[in-house]
Amino acid sequence: MTTPIESLSHLVVGSVESVAPDKIGVLLELDAPSTTALNTGTPTAFPRLNSYVLIPNEAGATVAYVAWMGIERSAYPKRAGFKDFGLVDLPFPLRKMSVVPVGTLASTWAANRKPMFELSRGVVAFPSVGDQVLMPTPQQVEAIVGMSNDSQRVRLGSSPMASRAVIAVDPDRLFGRHLAVLGNTGSGKSCTVAGLIRWSLEAARATIQREGRDGAPNARFIVLDPNGEYAHAFRDEPGQTRVFRVPPVSAGERALQVPAWLWNGHEWAAVAQAQPGAQRPLLLQGIRELKSGNSAGVPRDALIRRYLTSYATRLSALLNSGTQGFAGGARARFECARMLETIAADCVQFSSELSEPAASQLAAVAAATTGVVDSRRSGQWFNDFSVTDLESVRGSLTSVAETLPDLGTFAPINEDAPTQFDVNVLADHLEKVATEQGGNLAGFISTLGLRIRGMLADHRLGQVIAGEPPIEFDAWLNDYIGRNGADGGSLAIIDLSLVPSEIVHVVVAVLARLVFEASQRYRRHHPSGMPLPSVLVLEEAHTFVRRGKDDEGPAATPARLCREAFERIAREGRKFGLGLVLSSQRPSELSPTVLAQCNTFLLHRIVNDSDQELVARLVPDNVGGLLRELPSLPSRQAILLGWATPIPVLVDIDELPDLQRPKSSDPDFWDVWTLGKERSIDWGAVSSDWVGTKTPPSGLPPGDSGAV
Ligand SMILES: Nc1ncnc2c1ncn2[C@@H]1O[C@H](COP(=O)(O)OP(=O)(O)OP(=O)(O)O)[C@@H](O)[C@H]1O
Ligand SMILES: [Mg+2]
Repeated sequence: MTTPIESLSHLVVGSVESVAPDKIGVLLELDAPSTTALNTGTPTAFPRLNSYVLIPNEAGATVAYVAWMGIERSAYPKRAGFKDFGLVDLPFPLRKMSVVPVGTLASTWAANRKPMFELSRGVVAFPSVGDQVLMPTPQQVEAIVGMSNDSQRVRLGSSPMASRAVIAVDPDRLFGRHLAVLGNTGSGKSCTVAGLIRWSLEAARATIQREGRDGAPNARFIVLDPNGEYAHAFRDEPGQTRVFRVPPVSAGERALQVPAWLWNGHEWAAVAQAQPGAQRPLLLQGIRELKSGNSAGVPRDALIRRYLTSYATRLSALLNSGTQGFAGGARARFECARMLETIAADCVQFSSELSEPAASQLAAVAAATTGVVDSRRSGQWFNDFSVTDLESVRGSLTSVAETLPDLGTFAPINEDAPTQFDVNVLADHLEKVATEQGGNLAGFISTLGLRIRGMLADHRLGQVIAGEPPIEFDAWLNDYIGRNGADGGSLAIIDLSLVPSEIVHVVVAVLARLVFEASQRYRRHHPSGMPLPSVLVLEEAHTFVRRGKDDEGPAATPARLCREAFERIAREGRKFGLGLVLSSQRPSELSPTVLAQCNTFLLHRIVNDSDQELVARLVPDNVGGLLRELPSLPSRQAILLGWATPIPVLVDIDELPDLQRPKSSDPDFWDVWTLGKERSIDWGAVSSDWVGTKTPPSGLPPGDSGAV
């Protein structure tokens, strides 16, 4: 009995002339189609670069794609009707092609006597010289590009090389082992990513409905969007999408919050540029203490003791440094008075929190301290303070402190725990810790303090990191990762476009780390240890997961933490259900660790040499020919290869309507020049926003001045 492939002998187009593992030479029949083949059932362009042919063998058929075509002249052609080779003949053109074997198409007869095909990776048996070469039928093409398989659930586009057969992917494979979308600027990466998310959710919704289940897709896509383009693409699904951005926000969007109390020790140290020697431990101690102060189990009176002792230590330091600090110039006296006033105010506050006798003792200290300040006041300024003044305040602070329990007896909380604390007091608190410890930390602390105070004072920075209005950690996870049952939407778009550049790396590092750790902990807490499938999308990945530099010092920078966070997700995310989608214009600048862990690639047009070389190294040799097409791919076309597809295929990505595209259309110079589109300029508004004095008008996305 013939196999389904052999029975299609009318599709023979040539025969094998030469065979090498990576290349098969084919001589085309004289009557093989030369532009359009009609014998396949549907008109198919043939022969054509990158289209498929089959070479039947005992296991089914070897699938190969056309890598080269040409004409060679032969003196003695084989021609139908001409048997006499003794004639003097003119050279005759013969069409030849080179094909690259990529897979094996197995065939069986289904129960209903219809043939069934299934494609598998790799070549089981190489053809021999003289074997027939066939054109695939539409049904075989579907099997080759993957649509006939039930698990190919999400339609991505169609195949321009195979009579527009549908190309669909299996989300388990595509997202389960990380996807990299690479290509030059404007080649269509963002549209592809937006399409993938949209089509995945649509396909999931359709299946839920078809199978009679109830509810929205239980999916989680978290998009880190440095260009602020994705909110535009999902405007039509307001209930399904949560958009976070730096205020001002439009209706339906929320203020982006990555409070500094969520940062771990490494992240703090990187932002503060704390050196590993003395500065880092000090910074971490300060954070630990503040976090402990707000964690359950540490009594407030122990913390108050901590504050009182540190005030006493600061006073001792002042006394030890000579009279310059309190009886020197007007400025020093003023500073000293300010410190005493702060101590008095804090003591009043502490006294209201404590029980007797400490409460009234502290009230007395407050009164005495205020008395000292008032006795030296002279109008707006102050007279010299005396050693006795400061000694008395210091002594009374110490004696009250000694009646309170010691903080050391309570295990301080880990500085990495996402425990809330008031970030605004961190700078002050560090100063206290530093004076207590003495040594030469004061210089560092003042620069660190300046940096932290500066960050919080900058209105845009402060809005993101200060944790105002307060948000609980579980509420934050619900918002940024997703609620139970994806209630409130399957998609979180985190618009990073207005996040100031000083903190954007740390913000991305914190987000990536928290998404990863949340997935990790989810699995640990799940009764049967099941992971929570989630997808983290990173646009412009080359800025956030840059290839490491050899000259990096021991101190971590935010950019390095960011890279490490993604390297970790790339290495370990799969186990916890976390898939990564990276989109980048410069694959050669991406961290090799991350790229090597991406198992599926969608390659758009790539022109640059080093980027082409890099992607060629990432993929198996026998698709090398296909990749030669990379520099000439039109936008919307991409080569899909890797784990999610049995063989590399060229895809015409489905078109997204204008409203569903990320907002990144090419600039319309001509229409603006010729007044076809309005672009009025108000640098005043831009500059005041830039400087930080005024907020920009709400509702306008960054970089957009409102086209008509
Ligand atoms: N699937 C698609 N459907 C409709 N239009 C598309 C599609 N893919 C690309 N385009 C067109 O190409 C343009 C550029 O695409 P896109 O913004 O996705 O490029 P990009 O690779 O993300 O560029 P960049 O690297 O600069 O971000 C889009 O504005 C759109 O007009
Ligand atoms: Mg883009």
